[in-house]
Amino acid sequence: MAGEKIDNQRMEKIVSLCKRRGFIFQSSEIYGGLNGLWDYGPLGVELKRNLKNYWWRVMVHERDDVVGLDGSILMNRAVWKASGHEDTFTDPMVDCRSCKARLRADQILNKKGEQQCPVCGGKDLTEPRSFNLMFKTYVGATEDESSVTYLRPETAQAIFVQFKNVLETSRKKLPFGVAQIGKAFRNEINPRNFTFRSREFEQMELEYFCRPEEGMRLLEYWKEERLKFYENIGIARAKLHVLNVSDADRAFYSKGTYDIEYDFPFGRQELEGVAYRTDYDLSQHQKASGKSLEYFDDETKQKFVPHVVEPSAGVDRTVLALICEAYTEDEAPDEKGKMETRTVLRFHPRMAPIKCAVFPLLKNKEPLVAKAKEIISLLRPHMFVFYDESGAIGRRYRRQDEIGTPFGVTVDFETLGEKDAVLRDTVTLRERDSMKQERVKISELTQLLTARIA
Ligand code: GAP
Repeated sequence: MAGEKIDNQRMEKIVSLCKRRGFIFQSSEIYGGLNGLWDYGPLGVELKRNLKNYWWRVMVHERDDVVGLDGSILMNRAVWKASGHEDTFTDPMVDCRSCKARLRADQILNKKGEQQCPVCGGKDLTEPRSFNLMFKTYVGATEDESSVTYLRPETAQAIFVQFKNVLETSRKKLPFGVAQIGKAFRNEINPRNFTFRSREFEQMELEYFCRPEEGMRLLEYWKEERLKFYENIGIARAKLHVLNVSDADRAFYSKGTYDIEYDFPFGRQELEGVAYRTDYDLSQHQKASGKSLEYFDDETKQKFVPHVVEPSAGVDRTVLALICEAYTEDEAPDEKGKMETRTVLRFHPRMAPIKCAVFPLLKNKEPLVAKAKEIISLLRPHMFVFYDESGAIGRRYRRQDEIGTPFGVTVDFETLGEKDAVLRDTVTLRERDSMKQERVKISELTQLLTARIA
């Protein structure tokens, strides 16, 4: 694809940094791991939380027309029958009889008209057959057909089946939306590209209900809103792309779908889908449940099943995009002024796991340590801060650069007023990307930093 560049080396460095600094670990690692499953470490969990909080802020709190929901992961099996997932949420799968690899049919190589296994090159392949991506489980003590259900493969269905309850309790008028963030599970045949295609992941979904005639306009509106969102979390517009999904590739009930894609080091891939799903979902549930999911329009006195536009984003994919976007290597002077390679995660301050690190210049000078701890207590109610007193100051800066901390505050002898009384109770504030330092009053620090991380 045009402009697409694969950079495996960069991706390897990112994966290694994620483990080394505590962003992302392989799930069950000490037992050899489990494919397609990941744990977020102390820094990863902060990054993920910042992303989800910002999405919630923009999509729910800053709007009059959206409310939230937190649905259960396990739902009545009838939901998955009505939504079509039980019958059609499948990927075609092919087995290689030579190396026993289990592959998605679209991964099979076609060499001069002949099908070939991408793992061993073997040509002895089974016919494609449907593989349902939902994880099956049993509810209650008996494990038989009557107790079967599935771990939800998307968060959206809880929103559709609670449409009436939310409408009645929130007293919203069309158009309005219901937002949800939560886990989803898909038994992907081939999880790959680090966390990009996982078997357990989180989604941030909005179902925006509207009148039928508003659908196409709202599809455009939400595509633009979502592009703005990615820019506001620090993803360069030039690396975002909108794919207008063709009639052939779109779900049959959708009148229009955009994929928002990002240039990952492993290629251009989908971050989010924005789909106009018409009245398909609500109509299916109305039919299957026998309960009315219609909306009564006060003005026109008409009853109808609302249509829906759905921006559906992946938390894990966006976290991965944030890390890939932030990863930078530049040159900076070491303690002796010699230039060295510096690894920096240039996170937008809004997303950065730790907002500010506080350093006493020396750890064995009690007044410096006491002042630094005072600053920690001052900032802590407003942001996530980190105290570090060990090692040379340059090393401490580098450690924070590598995890993307946008600000560093150093308490030195000037802070204590030992050199110049005018500088008493001032500190050095260092900015991660420019490495510029400014002298600021401790009393102004909270306001200054909260404005920069908002
Ligand atoms: N309700 C619509 C829906 O679920 P989807 O395109 O299948 O649509 C939406 O999923 C988003 O969820 C994707 O754009 C992606 O960000 C994320 N997602 C889907 N499958 C994923 C997987 N296996 N691993 C990580 N994220 C995934």
